[in-house]
Amino acid sequence: MLDLQFMEQELSEAYDLEPNPDLAESLSDIYARMNRVVTPVEWAIQAPYVAAINRLKKERNAVILAHNYMTPDIFHGVSDVVGDSLQLAVKAVEVQADVIVQCGVHFMAETSKILNPAKTVLMPDMEAGCSLAESITSAGIAQMREQYPGAPVVSYVNTTAEVKAASDICCTSSNAAQIVGALDSDTIIMTPDQYLAQNVAKQVPQKRIVWWEGSCIVHEQYTAQDIREFREWNPGTRIIAHPECPPDVVNEADFSGSTSGILDYVTREKPEKAMLVTECSMASNISDELPEVEFIGPCNMCPYMKKITLQKVLWSLHTMTEPVEVEPEVAEKARIAVQRMIDLSRKLGL
Ligand code: 13P
Ligand code: SF4
Repeated sequence: MLDLQFMEQELSEAYDLEPNPDLAESLSDIYARMNRVVTPVEWAIQAPYVAAINRLKKERNAVILAHNYMTPDIFHGVSDVVGDSLQLAVKAVEVQADVIVQCGVHFMAETSKILNPAKTVLMPDMEAGCSLAESITSAGIAQMREQYPGAPVVSYVNTTAEVKAASDICCTSSNAAQIVGALDSDTIIMTPDQYLAQNVAKQVPQKRIVWWEGSCIVHEQYTAQDIREFREWNPGTRIIAHPECPPDVVNEADFSGSTSGILDYVTREKPEKAMLVTECSMASNISDELPEVEFIGPCNMCPYMKKITLQKVLWSLHTMTEPVEVEPEVAEKARIAVQRMIDLSRKLGL
């Protein structure tokens, strides 16, 4: 576990991290991407970290891959590649740098390592887990295979390398329905997200989909009643739900898609008001790009994603910790499942 006090002390000895309005002003091009959601006072605090991280990235020949749920300071301030889980996995294969710092959760860093075994993949906080990834082990996959003999296992990328290695193919929320639809089997096992599986089952009615009972602690909290009430109080708001939400919630929404699907939809449709039924940073990260859209409504915070902070990213590059390791035999098998997903997505034009 990270010793935050020690980290703070060491970093303040190595770098000038005092709030600095002049430095903040000199980085106004970066600030312009988030000034609707980050105040000038906050930016003066963040700017010294952003400057130090961007300098260190060059020295270490490192790139930062950041998920759409990172806070705006990380998303806009220091990342080189941003996106949803599929985009990050695809981009991880193309990385030329020696070091990848994964700003997201542990399974994402494992995926990058699986796809780049020779590179150093750093995780700024090893405790950034995921309720879905923690809900199943390879024993669970074996149990499902026993229950539904011959059915292929499609595992969400939100799983450990060990689970991916025991699966036939992976999927993300942006390609799950197409992957399931393309498999040559009437029955498909989907793990570990029961809600993603149920949402996919509605999109691919020709298949019998069976699922593991995992769920995302962020998206499972929304209820259909919440959405109906919100619509009543805020008529005209476009409601957009992530497919990790329960199916009755998705049913009440105007659109459902992965985090990049959400961004594409809002960019295309430009509704006057939008409610994103997903993690809170999603709306924060896209609101400067879409000034004509007012993002309203409640959102839920992912406690795992929020473990990644600018300070921990700086520490990670400063100390080159923590490197993510995956047993070579596990990585080899997991790579097959991830690569099949990437290849099939490409073939399907996704
Ligand atoms: P996507 O970005 O692939 O939609 O995934 C959402 C999520 O919950 C990742 O943990
Ligand atoms: Fe896992 Fe949900 Fe957090 Fe994504 S938002 S990392 S699925 S707990």
